Amino acid sequence: MIIVIIGSQWGDEGKGKVVDLLADRFDIVSRYQGGHNAGHSVYVGDQAFVLRLLPSGIIHEGSTCVLGNGMVIDPIAFFEEVDQMTDKGISITPERLKVSSRAHLIMPYHRALDHTSEERLGNEKIGTTLRGIGPTYEDKAGRRGIRVADALVPEVLKQRIERNLEEANRVIVLYGREPLRSDEIFEEISALAERLRPFVCETSHFFAQAKKENKKILLEGAQATLLDVDHGTYPFVTSSNPTAGGASVGAGIPPHHITGVLGIVRTYMTRVGEGPFPSEMLDAEEDTANLIRERGNEFGSVTKRPRRCGWFDAVATRYAAELNGFDSVALTKIDVLDALDEIKVCVGYKIDGERVDTFPAVSQDLRQIEPVYETLEGWKSDTVGITNIDDLPTKAREYVDFLSKSIGVEIGLISTGPERDQTIILKDSVMEGWFN
Ligand code: IMP
Repeated sequence: MIIVIIGSQWGDEGKGKVVDLLADRFDIVSRYQGGHNAGHSVYVGDQAFVLRLLPSGIIHEGSTCVLGNGMVIDPIAFFEEVDQMTDKGISITPERLKVSSRAHLIMPYHRALDHTSEERLGNEKIGTTLRGIGPTYEDKAGRRGIRVADALVPEVLKQRIERNLEEANRVIVLYGREPLRSDEIFEEISALAERLRPFVCETSHFFAQAKKENKKILLEGAQATLLDVDHGTYPFVTSSNPTAGGASVGAGIPPHHITGVLGIVRTYMTRVGEGPFPSEMLDAEEDTANLIRERGNEFGSVTKRPRRCGWFDAVATRYAAELNGFDSVALTKIDVLDALDEIKVCVGYKIDGERVDTFPAVSQDLRQIEPVYETLEGWKSDTVGITNIDDLPTKAREYVDFLSKSIGVEIGLISTGPERDQTIILKDSVMEGWFN
């Protein structure tokens, strides 16, 4: 069984908890795109883990974790995270952590270029995480990137750094920054590459073997559908493909081996960074946005940036469901809405007075959207920690059913709090089967 798990919005939908719940049912958990721009929070008892590069499965001693070829890996951040996890008592060995030899490395000059690129864009900036993600994918597409396998051969690494840095330094100096030194970068990265060597693996072969042995594999998307470089709110997107198709390419697994796709849908929307957000709560709804931000702890788990908050957008989420082919949905953070009198759902868009029910491609259109809302009554009672669907207030159940109908996919799991056991799994759902 191979399941892909994907955020349906602009990220931070609560994937970390759901992956963590599923992880001990799976033998292997793998990431397939992105890098340490992600930040998954997982709470186990009184311990909080923030995972950036490592798949959430790393917390379960029984899972093997893979960093797939579609990822961009900052070796400095990688070992920081490995060391932090080790300090928290998690055993990280090459037997249980595999890094693709084909993944690309984020180099110190990529971080510098992420800064200069945002500076150049000024008011039109993307609001990136400044981790060097975009520039590393640019080098990958430009066929000058440095892959993990290249870094293991010192002469190749040295020559690539010198060649790429010559170009990068021109831009870095143009923006008034100190040029970087290739000997220093080489020294630092070659030492880290040596430390990385035991973890390096031909991961697509590893997956092919695992499939033959009927192992259960979970492919964990980072960022989310609306941040996908092809399908998201371009250009306000990340530089990789979090959507289901990206899982096949980025893990090196044939598409027809994938058994199912699980969407993570939050009961409201958030976005970090710039870019269009049709159902955003603007000034008139600032109090509601603040309430949701506080109750939902909607601050970046890595960058601590406050997230922009908005009402559930059925148009955007239906688009995500179609695009990824969600077989089932995990609905998260229902408890965050407990205090609201009324809950709005964006059921359509108007552009220049015309009703539009599909998600437009042009970011200019997205900015001009007038959302069409339907208002539902709030349930005004505590849902925190509920584990049985029959215990959910009627109005909360109506809200769940409304969302499920509006996106056209079953809701198989409802999360009622950050802890593992604050979860409802719906009987006879596709999702229930994945838990068995
Ligand atoms: P980058 O991935 O750092 O290039 O940033 C591009 C866009 O994706 C920015 O708007 C970021 O805020 C957003 N982004 C990147 N990673 C995440 C994430 O894990 N959660 C939410 N937004 C993200």
